[in-house]
Parts: sequence; C-alpha cells; structure tokens
Amino acid sequence: MVRRLFRFIKSYRFVIFITFFLVTMLMFFAFGSYLQNSYQKKTMENKIAQVQGQCNILASQVQQNNFLISSNMTNLNTEINQLANVLEGRIIIVDSNYLVIKDTYTMEQGRYLISKDVHEIMIGKTGTKTKTLLQNEYIEILVPILDSTNVPQPITTDNSTKPAVGGSDTKQAKGVIICVFAIGELSDTNEYMRSQADILYGFFIFISFVVAVLMSLILPLPIRALNRKLQHVAEGHLDEPIVLYHSYEEVQDVTDTFNQIISKIQVLESTRQEFVSNVSHELKTPITSMKVLADSLLMQEDVPAEMYREFMGDIAEEIDRENKIITDLLTLVRLDKQVTNLNIETVNINELLELLLKRIQPIAAEREIDIVLESMREVVAEIDSVKLSLAFSNLIENAVKYNQNGGWVHVNLDADHKFFYVKVSDSGVGIPEDCQDKVFERFYRVDKARSRDTGGTGLGLAITRNAILMHKGAIQLYSKQGEGTTFTVRIPLIYIS
Ligand SMILES: Nc1ncnc2c1ncn2[C@@H]1O[C@H](COP(=O)(O)OP(=O)(O)OP(=O)(O)O)[C@@H](O)[C@H]1O
Ligand SMILES: [Mg+2]
Repeated sequence: MVRRLFRFIKSYRFVIFITFFLVTMLMFFAFGSYLQNSYQKKTMENKIAQVQGQCNILASQVQQNNFLISSNMTNLNTEINQLANVLEGRIIIVDSNYLVIKDTYTMEQGRYLISKDVHEIMIGKTGTKTKTLLQNEYIEILVPILDSTNVPQPITTDNSTKPAVGGSDTKQAKGVIICVFAIGELSDTNEYMRSQADILYGFFIFISFVVAVLMSLILPLPIRALNRKLQHVAEGHLDEPIVLYHSYEEVQDVTDTFNQIISKIQVLESTRQEFVSNVSHELKTPITSMKVLADSLLMQEDVPAEMYREFMGDIAEEIDRENKIITDLLTLVRLDKQVTNLNIETVNINELLELLLKRIQPIAAEREIDIVLESMREVVAEIDSVKLSLAFSNLIENAVKYNQNGGWVHVNLDADHKFFYVKVSDSGVGIPEDCQDKVFERFYRVDKARSRDTGGTGLGLAITRNAILMHKGAIQLYSKQGEGTTFTVRIPLIYIS
C-alpha cells in the first residue's frame, strides 16, 4: 500500500494532478479575491458619493436659508438631525468664525472648531474633502458652504481633496459642513460577501480537484499508449513499427527513436541469422571435404602410399581451416565480452611487424604481390602483442587477399611523442564507398563469394577494431573502388588503463 502510494507520488500523473490542482485553485482564488475587493471598493465609493451629494444639498440649503446667521430654524435643524440619523453619524456645521453653530451630538455646539482641514476649506485652499478615520471604521466628509451653491457631487476616494467650487479660482467659504459616519453597515455587507465567497471557494477547490483528476488521467494517455505498444514489442513483435495517432510531439520523438532502435535490432537480427547460416556453412565445408577425402581412401583397396599422403595433406588443410574459423569466433566472443585482460608488455613494433610480414610473405609471393615495410623510426610501445598481432596481421592479410596478382602492399610505421601509427596500403580492388562503414561490422563481407573463396568469415576487421579499441587507439579507412585501400591505425605509446 505504502509502496503504491510512493509510486503514485513519483508518477507523471501525480505531477500533473498537483500542478493543475494548485494552478486552477490559485487562479480561482485570485479571481475571487479580486472580485471581492473591487466589490468592496465600489460599495464604499458609492456610499461616499451618496453622502457627499446629501452634504452638498445640505450646504446649499444652509446657504439659501441663511442658517449660518440664524441657526435656530426648526425645519432645517430637524432635517439635519434626520440626515445624521439616517447616516448613523454626526453632522457639524461651522460658520466663518470657526464657531460650531450645529452639532447633532450637541457636544461641540457653541465652541470653536479650528482644524487644519476646516481652515483650508474656509480660506478656499481646498474644496470638498473626504477622509477615513480609525482604520477605515469611519468616513469624514468636509463640504464648503459657498455663496454660489452650485455644489458638485464628486465621487471620491479615501483622503481625497477636491478643489472648491470654481476650480482654481477657489472662493472663501462661508462655512463648513463636517459629516462623520460609520461604515460598519458596509462591513456587514462585506462580511456577508465574505461568507458567500467562502462557499464559493469551497466550490472552487472541488472544481480544481475535478479538473486536476481529469487532467492527470487524460494527459498521460499518449505515454500509456506508447508503453502498451512497447510492451507488445518487448513480447517479441519486432517486425511492426510503432505507430501512434494523436500524440504529443515529444512522445512522437520518443516513438521515432524507438522505431530506429527496432530497425537496428532488425538489422542485427538479420545479420545474426546470416552469420549463423554462414558459419554453419563455413564449418560444414571443411568437414564435407574431409568426409569425401576419407571415404574415397576407404572405398579403394591397396591405395598407394603417395595417394594416402596427398589425401591426408588435404585433410590436414581442411582441419586448419576449420580451426581458423573456430579460433576467429572464439577470439571475437572473448574480445566482445571484454573479459580478457590485456597482457601489456613493452614491445618493439618494428620487430613485431617484420615478423608478421615474414609470415604472410609466402602467400603474397604466390600471387607475386610485393610487400614492403617502411619503418620511419624505431618504435617501442606498451601493448598486448598477441592481440595487436591479430589486428595487424588481419589488415595485412586483407591487403594481400583483396589485391590483384602482381600488386603491392605497403606497411608504414611511424610515431610521434604520444602515438605510433601503422598504415597498411594496397593496390587492390578497393571498397565501395557505401560499404566502408559496414566492413567493421561482424560477418560483413563486401563480396561474399570472393571472401568465401579466400577463406574469409568477415570477422577479421571486427576483431581488428576491437583489439585496437582495447588499446585506446583508433582505426580509419580510405578507399577507392578499383584503386586500392589504406587502413591507418593509431595506438598510444604508453598504455594507461
Ligand atoms: N584491403 C582491402 N581491400 C578490399 N576490400 C577489403 C580490404 N579489407 C577488407 N575488405 C573487405 O571487407 C570485408 C571484411 O573484412 P574482414 O577482414 O572483416 O573479413 P574477411 O577478410 O572476409 O574474413 P576474415 O578476415 O575473417 O578471414 C572483406 O570481406 C572485404 O570485402
Ligand atoms: Mg580479413
């Protein structure tokens, strides 16, 4: 159970789920709180604009009814008290002498009220003012009482100041109306809004969860489809390429890569099958010859001793050939598995090459092929002489095998302070350009019939390359069909494991 949970947490599905859940939730919450805030702001602005309007009307009434001069007008007094009640607030009217002629709370009535805000309005420096008090709990609006009572009804924000009527030519005010009211009523509305929003947020979380679950199921579908197809391939159906419809580009790329791998496996598989049939054929040929030779000796009576000798010589040759094929195969398997440890020793490369050439000389002489060793300097290097001998002798053997009668083979040895270089060039048939990459592959032979005639299995260059790579060296091939071939080998003088 814990393991399954752990696997789920590590899965792509989980990543999608978490991402979508968090992102959609954050989006919903951000949008919700934006709506809530702008609603709160708008209601506050509306309320302030409404009260300002009422104060402006009151200011014009105060002016028209000369209330500043005789403040005991019952009608207007009642109206002011009613307005204060409706607003659940307090209205104070100050005359030009800063004397409070009306306070709906009566506390300040008859006293002087000299504040910076009142003074600025009185001298005409500013017009209507709106302020928030006690951490937005209360709003204070100050409205000038002017001669011309064409008072504007501006919509204001907190702590804003409007120029007095008349724009820049502000007039001195005859008095100021101060209106203070609580916005607790608004808070109630906001509180209600908040509780509604909480329900909405709960809904948002649910929606985000559903979206995240759906996405975590839908988005990995192409990957799952690819996995199903790969399982099909893993079951052994290597012959069909993977085809995915409606997939992501990235998944398509992975599919293409898998198809490339599959086609490589197909090539390897067919090469392997070809090799098995070739090897069986190669292994069977000497045995068949031996059987024929032995049978013909057995079937005859009183066979002359010379004939025995001749046939036995042929049988021995076939045994040698069989032996070569088996040895090559075993060498390659050993080199391939990399289980062989290199037996590194200090070897004189000039002597090594001389010895190899001496061995091949008789075969070359048979076809009048001239073999020359060009030693540019004495070279002593740390190598495994057995394995590198295999590599060099195959290169020289090939140069002779795939040469024309009367041709030449040049083996060149040179060195610098780090590497020694062996170059084997011939005047042979050459290798077609399209085959040059493949000749190092196991069992690959350009001309299969010819290679078989010359006793080749196609393993020689694979063995050569493996042996050179084991010495941390490199091999390159330059060839032109019909003109000849050159193989260059580079091996470090000092072996560093
Ligand atoms: N010097 C060369 N000139 C022309 N073709 C070459 C030369 N060397 C190699 N090739 C081509 O590359 C093929 C692979 O060579 P490789 O040595 O691996 O196999 P092989 O010579 O056929 O068999 P083996 O070396 O196992 O006896 C050869 O069959 C031949 O067609
Ligand atoms: Mg060869």
